[in-house]
Amino acid sequence: MPGQNIYDNDAFFESFRSSRDNEVNFNDCIETPILLGMLPDLHGKKVLDIGCGMGQHARLYSDMGAESVLGIDISEKMLAYAKANNSAENIRYERIAMEEIDTIGTQFDLVTSSLVFDYAEDFSGLMRKILHRMKKDAEFVFSMSHPIVTAWDGVYDRYTRTETGERLYANLRNYCVEGPRKVNWIVNGYECYHRTVSSLINALIRAGFRIEECQEAHISDELRKQYPALFGGTIHRPEFIFFRCRAEKQ
Ligand SMILES: C[S@@+](CC[C@H](N)C(=O)[O-])C[C@H]1O[C@@H](n2cnc3c(N)ncnc32)[C@H](O)[C@@H]1O
Repeated sequence: MPGQNIYDNDAFFESFRSSRDNEVNFNDCIETPILLGMLPDLHGKKVLDIGCGMGQHARLYSDMGAESVLGIDISEKMLAYAKANNSAENIRYERIAMEEIDTIGTQFDLVTSSLVFDYAEDFSGLMRKILHRMKKDAEFVFSMSHPIVTAWDGVYDRYTRTETGERLYANLRNYCVEGPRKVNWIVNGYECYHRTVSSLINALIRAGFRIEECQEAHISDELRKQYPALFGGTIHRPEFIFFRCRAEKQ
């Protein structure tokens, strides 16, 4: 199976699971509300959720009226959690890597993905494969780490701070150099891929998508003040980038 499968590492999985168990986390407070706001009406739609993880999104899509949801992921641990905690009659979870979605026979009305494409080595190739899994004019809504966030190599503090620790500036390094970035985050050698914003946009356009909306993550002043340790830096940089696209060509 292609791709790094870090979520099956015990320490990594436990850390991710416990951060999601806490109600105040980046996914529930920032990512999910923005992504949900970009979705079309799901009634009667066949949905594919790429990198479904623990199944929270798949469950929401089912509750929002989707005809069916297929959640795919590379991690057995994430899928086991999803099946145990976020099942419904119209949801199916399968262990399929995103790089292998051409093995799925179905064509979908809506493809979604939350914070998974950071792990895609060949983003352009993946966009072409996704387009082929979509009906003409189907929608594709996804989020990923913002390129400003992935332009980091772990050897310096993410923020320049005052003497009292207040964040003054967000730091980035080698924004213009694309490729794998290995950092020590929860485990040694956590790997994701950094790409510039223009590379993401051009890969979508060249694959045959029409980009209809792009958003950068924002968080309310209220939440930032309430949880400064977690969200205080979000005033300096958007954590995530979001796209809503339409399958223009087949
Ligand atoms: C940050 S988690 C996001 C999970 C879920 N989408 C959410 O928002 O809660 C990233 C997920 O991508 C999955 N993943 C990583 N590489 C993958 C690949 N090559 N194919 C399919 N899933 C992958 C991981 O196993 C993990 O479940």
